[in-house]
Amino acid sequence: MTATAENLVEEPVDLFSPEVVADPFGQHARLREAPTMMMGTFMGGPPMYLATSYNEVRQVLTDPRFLVNPPADSPMTDIRDGVFKHLEFPPELVPWMANIINAADGEDHTRLRKLVSYALTAHRVNKLRPRVEKITADLLDELEELGGDGTPIDLVQTFCYPLPVTVICEMVGIDEEHRDDWRAWGDAMATMDGPAIPRTLLRCIDLGQEVLDRRRREPKDDLVTALVQAQAADGNRVTDRELIGILFSLVTAGHQTTTYLIGNSVLILLENPDQLARLKADPSLWPQAVRELQRLGPIQFGQPRFPTEDIEVGGTVIPAGEPVVPLITAANTDPRKFPNPEELIVDRLGVGSESHLGFGKGIHRCLGQHLAYQEAEVALQGLFTRFPNLSLAVPREEIPWILRPGFTRTRDLPLKLV
Ligand code: HEM
Repeated sequence: MTATAENLVEEPVDLFSPEVVADPFGQHARLREAPTMMMGTFMGGPPMYLATSYNEVRQVLTDPRFLVNPPADSPMTDIRDGVFKHLEFPPELVPWMANIINAADGEDHTRLRKLVSYALTAHRVNKLRPRVEKITADLLDELEELGGDGTPIDLVQTFCYPLPVTVICEMVGIDEEHRDDWRAWGDAMATMDGPAIPRTLLRCIDLGQEVLDRRRREPKDDLVTALVQAQAADGNRVTDRELIGILFSLVTAGHQTTTYLIGNSVLILLENPDQLARLKADPSLWPQAVRELQRLGPIQFGQPRFPTEDIEVGGTVIPAGEPVVPLITAANTDPRKFPNPEELIVDRLGVGSESHLGFGKGIHRCLGQHLAYQEAEVALQGLFTRFPNLSLAVPREEIPWILRPGFTRTRDLPLKLV
């Protein structure tokens, strides 16, 4: 029998509630194993269908009949407006937040994605590897100075955070003297800091325009230069505003997510000494290990999708235009796809054939995955090689987590290096 909204059980689950945010694996499993499809909600918005099994989430992410923009009469449109109002976001700045690649559908999305893919090719990322290794080595030297005598250090601030920010800023072509401004914008976005978002955004709009103009005059071997050249080659069909939007997407996306992946992975590996020992004995397993770590990684769900017609998902018909949220954590821990899903098995997944949905799937699949894998691999291997006796400096239950929705992430990671 096909389920409809009427026979869905229970009240909508608040995806931003402390219970869900603090225990994503347990709570997502509960939602996935419920007898019928559950509904969820966040920020007081309307109920949304929850895709939870691996097959459901994959279907929602890959079926082109699901769009990321709500139809004009959807209550989700109100939610987006409500969020901007809640953050006291100046209306004239809203288009800067809305016209970005992951919020685009159809031809707009194809046009923007083509440009960003051009900038983030595997070749460009591979070329960057020696630089990622050097930045990592320098940060490890600094760590040694801070904690080489046994003084506890916080790995998030000293290592997990600066590495991806430095890499993405260098890769994009953000000049050194402006990196703090871009960091401030990324931080404001990650913490949903109402007053700071417009202030830092305005500054970065100016900086974005400035760097586009400068690279047109003086090209460099960086992504901004590649973007303005691609824009010119394409007959200037892409506007400067869209290019600045791309810079925003890259700097924010390449900023916090990789930080959490590295931080969470260090913790998981310390909790699984047998798997860490396998990596130490056979470093060729690292590329597979980062894929498995990403399966258990920081992203809890993707953005809501809206079907353009009635579509059946997991036995429930989602009516056209109704929102459905792909719960990535639930899918990545679905025992029907990954046996003993909460267990870390460093060689569980193959390289190139990994099936987890931690980077999404389909036309919005993450464009930064090569970079994220490369950084995580270099960072984790470098860290555990340089400091083989790395250990937690506090009991596991005292590690502070950031209880903000959407991501699972440690706020600090107090460690002893020796
Ligand atoms: C561990 C690190 C990362 C994780 C877990 C991650 C995760 C994701 C996910 C799940 C999506 C799809 C969201 C959806 O379909 O609703 C996505 C999209 C995206 N990511 Fe990442 N990402 C990471 C790193 C990066 C990096 C380093 C960059 C850039 C340098 C990046 C750039 C993007 C872009 C541009 C999109 C939008 C693609 C589109 O809409 O076509 N990401 N990411």
